Amino acid sequence: VAEKTPRAVGGNWEAEQLEAKLSRRVHAVAGAYWGAGARQEPPPVPPIMLAGGVPDPASLPIDDLVAVSERVLRREGPEALRYGGPQGFLGLREWLAADAHRREELSLGPEHFTITNGAAGALANLCDTFLDPGDVAIVEAPTYPGAMRTMRSCHAEVLGVPIGDADGLAPEALEKCLEQLRREGRRPKLLYTMANFQNPAGVTMSLERRREVVELCRRHDVLIVEDDAYGDIRFEGEALPSFFALAGGQGAVRIGTFSKTLATGLRLGWVMADQPIVDALVRMRFDMGSSPWPQRVVTEYASSGLLAEHVREVVPIYRRKRDAMLAALDERCNRFARWDVPRGGFFLWLELSEGVDPAILAQAAAQEGVAYVGGRTFFPDGSGARYIRLAYSFVAEAEMAEAVLRLGRAMERASRGPSAQ
Ligand SMILES: Cc1ncc(COP(=O)(O)O)c(C=O)c1O
Repeated sequence: VAEKTPRAVGGNWEAEQLEAKLSRRVHAVAGAYWGAGARQEPPPVPPIMLAGGVPDPASLPIDDLVAVSERVLRREGPEALRYGGPQGFLGLREWLAADAHRREELSLGPEHFTITNGAAGALANLCDTFLDPGDVAIVEAPTYPGAMRTMRSCHAEVLGVPIGDADGLAPEALEKCLEQLRREGRRPKLLYTMANFQNPAGVTMSLERRREVVELCRRHDVLIVEDDAYGDIRFEGEALPSFFALAGGQGAVRIGTFSKTLATGLRLGWVMADQPIVDALVRMRFDMGSSPWPQRVVTEYASSGLLAEHVREVVPIYRRKRDAMLAALDERCNRFARWDVPRGGFFLWLELSEGVDPAILAQAAAQEGVAYVGGRTFFPDGSGARYIRLAYSFVAEAEMAEAVLRLGRAMERASRGPSAQ
């Protein structure tokens, strides 16, 4: 038997030791999600990507961003190019406060906001601040894998409460979970929820349920962390109040981001919260703040009305893509899966029929050339193998039919039994 020689990484770290640490800390995000595939065999057919929640590349407002960026650099270059401070650019926080007033008539000031490196940075800052090792964090099941990963990297325990139906997180199930924890003498520190166009399930929580969740969390002293990454990608229906608004600004924070409405590469998000929470987040953080340049560019872009105009232009594009995907799924995949129609956001969430083997489907999809995210990634207990998430945001409209044709062929190959006949 060949002796395994330890491979050095640097310092006194060996590769196996580092790998063991990484897999303990980041196991919530399955390799497939971030394309850890880099180290695997290249796929036989270049895949059409239905995997990531990424904006439509053809509609990125590049010319406008070039113009605004140049204006900002010429006018305020020295300020845009030096450290900006951990709370973020005042002008952007003022714009966010005005925006919160326009949306929900909230009377907030720049002190109620902190700018982060995307919603991901907001989550990291919140988890660092509010989670200690061994704490419990409650998430919806399914949920955004990045949130679980961030919570676990703070050594917190992540518990899932099932999303009951098309109205979102079921308050009865949340209550049961909270009561159970109380009996065990454990106090969950936060509830992480996406009330609008949930990632991955696509559901939107009804107003009544939002109220019940606020009440429950107030009774049990649980901080609500609402991640509203997709709230502005709305195809139908009226905007419902945020948890922050329903809770009167206490006991609930809202995370926002420019990633989905504008561009993921900006790395700009924020937290809207009561001032003591913002102060704590700012104190906890040490990365010298988000980059002032894009913050100033986005401030000018948003204040001049270009952001609102851009959102008005892209939402119909996503609605068309959603509808194109739904039509193609109806034609190619309806024997193999079921799904609900989301009223906004970037995703369709498919429940595979009994007859479809998810593991064979994953292999067949790779061979056919279509990439999606398997359901297990989204559940804290690793269940959910019977689900897959499809993003319609990134794929070109012209490729949608082909993408779903490939998926349908893969499903056919992964099928057996009467439900797939
Ligand atoms: C629900 C949710 N939250 C946060 C993020 C991270 O977004 P950002 O690019 O703003 O960090 C994503 C990205 O996919 C997301 O889907």
